[in-house]
Amino acid sequence: VPEPDLAGRHVVISAGGTREPLDPVRYLGNRSSGKQGYALARTAAARGARVTLVEASTGMTDPAGVDVVHVGTAVQLREAVLKAAADADAVVMAAAVADFRPLSYASGKIKKKDGEEPAPVALVRNPDILAEVAADRARPGQVVVGFAAETDDVLANGRDKLRRKGCDLLVVNEVGERKTFGAEENEAVVLAADGGETPVPYGPKEALADTVWDLVAHRLPAPPRD
Ligand code: C5P
Repeated sequence: VPEPDLAGRHVVISAGGTREPLDPVRYLGNRSSGKQGYALARTAAARGARVTLVEASTGMTDPAGVDVVHVGTAVQLREAVLKAAADADAVVMAAAVADFRPLSYASGKIKKKDGEEPAPVALVRNPDILAEVAADRARPGQVVVGFAAETDDVLANGRDKLRRKGCDLLVVNEVGERKTFGAEENEAVVLAADGGETPVPYGPKEALADTVWDLVAHRLPAPPRD
């Protein structure tokens, strides 16, 4: 049984991948399974936290003892995360959020026409939720954690992203055709804004999740006494 070092804390976790609809049957999506986010939710609950899990298109069963909010798009994920973050001690953005969404949504299924070139899909930028949460902390001392999946120059890109996003911790892992997505295991380096770098060897996603909570717990301000 783990130490209840997150008892009395509220943590918010996003998991999965957003889907940005083109029409009632099609969307732009990504290959995030949500397994790392669910591992974060389970381990935080086991350590005594009140957990809000904002889930996008994982199809996974709600973990026991966790408040789950189901969303589809990045805009919906932003709403749910900002609402839950208002009284959160920590926010961990494990979800793969689409950087862009289709400019327009067709209320009827888009049809192909014989002899016609397909129409290009115009995209617009989605809000960067992690950067927003980190810039406007809903309470002092709130710890904000991001994830970065990189295919090359993993550490250099990770350090750069940590700075740009303004978060306290950034979990960086290398992804590729056969790496990480949908797997039960993960390998990563957790970069800290104060310069710390914690390598996490290849292992279960729970082990990485526990390392993240160790680093978060260490940074949380002492709870108010009454
Ligand atoms: O910029 P990039 O997508 O690589 O950053 C990944 C991190 O930023 C993840 O923690 C992801 O949840 C978050 N993110 C976000 N809003 C976006 C894009 C990414 O919160 N629009």
